[in-house]
Amino acid sequence: MTQPFIMQMRPLFGEEEKRAVCEYMDEDGFITEFKRTEKFEQMLAEYTGSKHCIVVNNGTISLTLAALAAGIKAGDEVIVPNYTMIATPNSVKMFGAVPVFVDVEPETLCLDIDKVKQAITPKTRAIMLVSANGRYPRPGIEAFEELAKQQNLLLLEDAAQSLGSFYPDGRHIGRAGLIGSFSFSAPKIISTGQGGALITDDDTMAAKLRRLKDFGRAAGGNDIHDSIGYNFKFTELQACIGIEQMKKLPSRVERKKEIWRRYSANLEGVKGIRLFEHDLKCTSPWFIDSLAENRDALIAHLKTANIGTRVMYPPINKQQAYQAPGDHKVSNNIGQQGLWLPSAVQLSDFDIDRICSTIREFYQV
Ligand SMILES: Cc1ncc(COP(=O)(O)O)c(C=O)c1O
Repeated sequence: MTQPFIMQMRPLFGEEEKRAVCEYMDEDGFITEFKRTEKFEQMLAEYTGSKHCIVVNNGTISLTLAALAAGIKAGDEVIVPNYTMIATPNSVKMFGAVPVFVDVEPETLCLDIDKVKQAITPKTRAIMLVSANGRYPRPGIEAFEELAKQQNLLLLEDAAQSLGSFYPDGRHIGRAGLIGSFSFSAPKIISTGQGGALITDDDTMAAKLRRLKDFGRAAGGNDIHDSIGYNFKFTELQACIGIEQMKKLPSRVERKKEIWRRYSANLEGVKGIRLFEHDLKCTSPWFIDSLAENRDALIAHLKTANIGTRVMYPPINKQQAYQAPGDHKVSNNIGQQGLWLPSAVQLSDFDIDRICSTIREFYQV
């Protein structure tokens, strides 16, 4: 009998989200951002422990706004990982800043600090640190904070994959940088379909971010503009969903950890595939990431068994969109062997066991 298809990832919404949207529609018809959005922002600020939270329409524009608010300009260099979602470099490329690609650590897939040091030039203005899959860099976030201070650089955090993950000192990821950015696109631990959020403890940055997303308005609702701004606002419908998703976040964080543990135990001793490790005291694994020998054949084998996967991001400097020089060993290797296994929070233990036995069968162990 054919087993049901297991998607690599799918969002999870329930009756609560449906009810919240219906209740809102019975109550008000503006839909544009208002009280529900404020509540969603408060919940995110509280959960992350940050002073301010500003939501926007996605986790790419949030990075652009973070860079603009921080004062990065066209021609400035911004150090970004060569392994990340392409939104990270694109967010600054959008206004003419220059992303400079640096390789990542083989264990954490976060920026390699030694290589970052080598890439700093007189034009470098910022480091955009990506906490890949909720991980933090091996020398500790403090090493990046120290480097940024010493070199007079801005530290911005692309924490798109890291809601529910923390640094060992207890700070939520995204709080070490001047501004931290999150995404609520469909595959994230909580989703609003599309959506992004910025957190900061800096009052000036928060005010700038609010103006940037709302046409540069001096205050909500008026038409007085003291600076240039755009329209990157959220909607109440997304906020209704986001509020309900936030209530589910703590249990999802725990389930993500259990999922990783079960995969790890089931695949122990399988020579052809290696899961990237996690510090589960801190990290909520967003995706199950692995290095797989003979990757394409494994993907095909899993597909025949009705199991979806996704290849991990190719090295960005080699994407046609950039074609930037440099040979980055770790990100090149991920481009060849990196594979995301099914990672949705709704995976059952039975599903995980089925996936792992199909993998074992492929590697004949
Ligand atoms: C590291 C990283 N940065 C930025 C983004 C972009 O977020 P969005 O899809 O909300 O624009 C993503 C989305 O997957 C991401 O993984």
